[in-house]
Amino acid sequence: MTEELDYKVFNEVSYGLYVVTSKLEERMNGQIVNTVLQVTSDPPRFGVIINQKNLTHDFILESGVFGVSILSQAAPMTFIGLFGFRSGRDVDKLAQAKWIEGRTGCPLVIDFSLGIMEAKLFRTMDVGTHTIFVGDIVDARAIGDGRPMTYEYYHVHLKGKTAKNAPTYSPIAQKSIQV
Ligand SMILES: Cc1cc2nc3c(=O)[nH]c(=O)nc-3n(C[C@H](O)[C@H](O)[C@H](O)COP(=O)(O)O)c2cc1C
Repeated sequence: MTEELDYKVFNEVSYGLYVVTSKLEERMNGQIVNTVLQVTSDPPRFGVIINQKNLTHDFILESGVFGVSILSQAAPMTFIGLFGFRSGRDVDKLAQAKWIEGRTGCPLVIDFSLGIMEAKLFRTMDVGTHTIFVGDIVDARAIGDGRPMTYEYYHVHLKGKTAKNAPTYSPIAQKSIQV
């Protein structure tokens, strides 16, 4: 069935690039996502889609808070590689980045960031490999200048690959999914 799908069309869906952060007691962590979406404006709610294998997933589920940093085109591959291809189970990522503590105690990464948002969990939806977390925004701040990093910019200019735990990863059509 899946072989009949034209996976190339999935490449036409546009995304940005973000760091999603959370905490668990004294531990802090964060990961790259392309899946941040404003869900409602009144009240302001945002959703993020996180792989159930990721450490960040467990932290959000347990603490009920998450942060979002909107990345600019200035973010280099070294930064994206740390947050997007390595797990907090093996490395303390936040020890290698600038971040501030938000109102909920959640870390908010300010490196290469145009703005930060902080959310308290409103709903979770188990969608198989991933969970959709929707949160009420409790703080939002612009912090930098520049242009937002898009998924297309990441693929075309940084020659970045699609990570295995990203929802856009396809083992069947990796060549098609990568621009
Ligand atoms: C460009 C890019 C986009 C990604 N998008 C997502 C995403 O939307 N959701 C997700 O769960 N993982 C995504 N990932 C993969 C996670 O960032 C990666 O699995 C990370 O190592 C998880 O870290 P953790 O175990 O410390 O939470 C993406 C990675 C990259 C490089």
